[in-house]
Amino acid sequence: MSSVLLHFDDEAAPAAKLAAACGCAIRPIERHRFPDGELRLRLPERLPRVVVLFRGLAYPNEKLVELMLAADTARALGAEQVVLVAPYMAYMRQDIAFRVGEAVSQRIIGRYLANLFDAVITVDPHLHRVETLGEAIPVTDALALSAAPLLGDFVAGRRRAPLLMGPDSESAKWVASAAAAHGFDHAVCSKVRHGDRNVEIALPEMAVAGRSVVIVDDVASTGHTVAVATQLLLAAGAASVDLAVTHALFAEGALALVREAGVSEVWSTDAIAHPTNAVSVAPLIAEALLPLMAR
Ligand code: R5P
Repeated sequence: MSSVLLHFDDEAAPAAKLAAACGCAIRPIERHRFPDGELRLRLPERLPRVVVLFRGLAYPNEKLVELMLAADTARALGAEQVVLVAPYMAYMRQDIAFRVGEAVSQRIIGRYLANLFDAVITVDPHLHRVETLGEAIPVTDALALSAAPLLGDFVAGRRRAPLLMGPDSESAKWVASAAAAHGFDHAVCSKVRHGDRNVEIALPEMAVAGRSVVIVDDVASTGHTVAVATQLLLAAGAASVDLAVTHALFAEGALALVREAGVSEVWSTDAIAHPTNAVSVAPLIAEALLPLMAR
């Protein structure tokens, strides 16, 4: 055994799916929470040269501490290469100080992870003002995979001649990539965010009347972006509006909000476990991970 995939108890199912796709060994990390909230982790006693740590980073704060404890311990137990697989990468949206004094979380968390890991693999990280994941997380192998083509394939099986719509300019790359293989029409809205739950959206100047529109985005969090875009699309005569999203973060009440706005179907990838999961990212991640495991 030259590599092993380690995971936490709350992610046993997606970790097992990935291990099966890679054909690699898988072991749990024991986790004890002390009454004061501190954590004690216990890794397997013997570790191979390559250790893959599987940890999705939705609701990330405590998980970032787990990563520090686990990565350091893995090295103490003999690992020479420690790889992080985080299907959802947190803190990527705060990529500049929007107001003087704000922490640029993307850069800070990126450096933190780069100090812990030799390689990082994630899916559709929210890279807006930086081009590559390596700029945000400066490790040699910083791999940003995209589930957008998989979402495009899924949509192709569900809707005939859909119009793929990105809710904001940042979504342009995912929308174009989801549309590419099938030659779907696609466009993006423009969006101004006034607060966590307050967004203003303008539709692109094109006819949407009678079209089956599928909103494509990397993340749905509060659901307000999707809800506002949906209301505008339906008011403009769209025949239906569905949502295809990589990361179903869906904060409390968000799914109900998008449904009330008129979204018919919600399809997400399992990069974050959610009842709307329709597309698996395990084969995509396995393809990127296998060469690292073979080193
Ligand atoms: C931001 O630009 C992202 O691509 C999403 O559009 C955004 O995070 C969605 O947030 P919410 O669901 O809270 O509107």
